[in-house]
Amino acid sequence: MQIQSVGVVGAGQMGNGIAHVLSLAGYDVLLNDISEEAIGAALDLIRSNMTRQVGRGKIAEADMEAAIARIRGTRVLSDLGATDLVIEAATERETVKQAIFEDLLPHLQPHTILTSNTSSISITRLASRTDRPEKFMGFHFMNPVPVMQLVELIRGIATDEPTYKACYAVVERLGKTAASAEDFPAFIVNRILMPMINEAVYTLYEGVGNVNSIDQAMKLGTNHPMGPLELADFIGLDTCLAIMNVLHDGLADTKYRPCPLLTKYVEAGWLGRKTQRGFYDYRGEVPVPTR
Ligand code: CAA
Repeated sequence: MQIQSVGVVGAGQMGNGIAHVLSLAGYDVLLNDISEEAIGAALDLIRSNMTRQVGRGKIAEADMEAAIARIRGTRVLSDLGATDLVIEAATERETVKQAIFEDLLPHLQPHTILTSNTSSISITRLASRTDRPEKFMGFHFMNPVPVMQLVELIRGIATDEPTYKACYAVVERLGKTAASAEDFPAFIVNRILMPMINEAVYTLYEGVGNVNSIDQAMKLGTNHPMGPLELADFIGLDTCLAIMNVLHDGLADTKYRPCPLLTKYVEAGWLGRKTQRGFYDYRGEVPVPTR
């Protein structure tokens, strides 16, 4: 089936990036959030990120204006019922995602494909609570969406081939590359990335290194663009902890136990860049390590 219109639920860090790349690829985008401010902030951010791309010669100014004109913000979730594909990018909490699907389902067209940008929750379980498990799958973008080349596509146990092919075609039209993952906790990227980040926090917790030495070691020693603690702040420490809990619970192996120091930062509300404090303090001119 041909997809032309896409509904994006959630105008946060991931939702605005997803709307950004979809609109540039020519899709009509309906961007939904419960908060009018969040929608306004997302549209402003999309414009400023696209302006940066124009400045670097990546896209033409006319393409930017045309893309922005293809995005419409809405607080009314049922408006997304008219679209061909829905990508849910709300908070990484199963109860929140489930409530969104319950509200949305009565308004969807029969052919609409329903997907979630979840980074770790079972696609099969989310799908089983909808009226269309065969038209449901995981559509997982990486942050920052306009820059990162990968999209993980995750089939639930019931996902049918036309649904997979339609989503694969969207990834191709975005100019990105799809990696296909089976539906096991945290899929591929986070199954490997999060234990590394968690181990970096253990390395800090046990005093093997401080924030600077751990990040320097991994940046300069393994050519990672960001150190693991800087990356954890970028992703959000609450998200990192949530994914470690999914791995720990879902695979029942103690090697996935979240580091108590990661839990402590989350309990403090030091969630990384989004709260201006995590393993680094971002309130000044330059980030300052907090340990
Ligand atoms: N929109 C558009 N363009 C952007 C952008 C955005 N939001 N953010 C950065 N860019 C562009 C910049 O304009 C710049 O463009 P040029 O190459 O044309 O110069 C380029 O990206 C690099 O940006 P910067 O020069 O500002 O900074 P940098 O060189 O330090 O790169 C980075 C920034 C791309 C974020 C890099 O540090 C990086 O790749 N970090 C690792 C990111 C990563 O691992 N992401 C995956 C996280 S895991 C995940 O997302 C899954 C999950 O479920 C948790």
